[in-house]
Amino acid sequence: METVLSGIRPTGRLHLGNYFGALRNFVRMQHQARCFFFIADYHSLTTHPDPKALHGNIRDVLSEYLAAGLDPSVATIYVQSDVPEVAELQLLLSMHAHVPELLRTASFKDKVSKLRGKSVEGEDAESGLAGISAGLLCYPVLMAADILQHRADKVPVGKDQEQHLEMTRFYARRFNSFYGVEYFKEPQAYNFGTELVKVPGLDGSGKMGKSEGNGLYLSDSDTDLRKKVMRAVSDSGPTEPNQPMAEPIANLFTLLRLVSAPDVVQHFTDAYNRCEIRYGDLKKQLAEDIIAVVAPIRERIEAIRADDAYLHRVTSEGAEKARASSAATLADVRGIMGIKRF
Ligand code: ADP
Ligand code: TRP
Repeated sequence: METVLSGIRPTGRLHLGNYFGALRNFVRMQHQARCFFFIADYHSLTTHPDPKALHGNIRDVLSEYLAAGLDPSVATIYVQSDVPEVAELQLLLSMHAHVPELLRTASFKDKVSKLRGKSVEGEDAESGLAGISAGLLCYPVLMAADILQHRADKVPVGKDQEQHLEMTRFYARRFNSFYGVEYFKEPQAYNFGTELVKVPGLDGSGKMGKSEGNGLYLSDSDTDLRKKVMRAVSDSGPTEPNQPMAEPIANLFTLLRLVSAPDVVQHFTDAYNRCEIRYGDLKKQLAEDIIAVVAPIRERIEAIRADDAYLHRVTSEGAEKARASSAATLADVRGIMGIKRF
């Protein structure tokens, strides 16, 4: 059986992009593979170190995982920092991670250029890296440790993570060749075949995202969802039959295809093609169909989020299973590297 692993950083509530792009697929995969799904809290510390917010943010994502249907009796669901073995594996892998390749990583360069927007002064400024943490630099090594500790075959992630997966394969290969072993497998980013979706925002262009400020959240109330959908950008309507759709309209239809029944999609497509569409009706229907997906999840989120005993049980059992898997890998790696007990 293949091993699948993925994680999401606890940096905000999950939106429909996270749901259709990642979480719904985790739920589907849990019955087909040996699955590990975790909350990447160590990784969130590289950019969002906030002791007051951290625990609540982890609770949010954990509740959302469970409310969306991840089943702790099937998949291993855990919090990254509950598995200290990953930190030791990162330490060991970091002996073979070279500073220039870490400095060249696209996500590192992106984050540094955002942080550099703030003032950089004094001696360190010469390098342009003043105030940049080694934690951020080593982000890809920790991610490689997340993946390699369970010897995952497939890692369901979005396109933005492909370079990190490439680096993970590279570290696996470098380790194998340095020590003359065939130990680590090379994991692949996994895109769910034909089902790869990019969920658009309702602001006319681009994707739905936490930092884009255009999210339809799993935790949004029905009223908020209706308001957000009714405010969606549209246009003045088609003037010729079968006219190509402008991006904001195509985006409304992309969402409609994700949440509505095929006959509903057909109805509005026909209306558009006959120039009879009323966007107000389309938005009302879209809002109700989004609510039909979100409301049951939201109701479960609230109940789960408040259930300390359940969350404690899920994370304790998840940590125990994840630690067993990770400890076995770590023992092998220590042995390969020559670390022995007296
Ligand atoms: P965000 O872009 O909102 O910060 P993250 O980068 O934390 O989201 O992504 C978590 C997961 O959700 C990743 O696997 C990512 O590929 C997926 N994802 C995020 N936004 C979208 C979207 N609009 N469409 C499809 N998948 C998405
Ligand atoms: N870097 C990923 C993101 O930003 C989160 C993550 C951390 C991850 N470790 C992982 C994803 C291991 C997959 C596998 O979305």
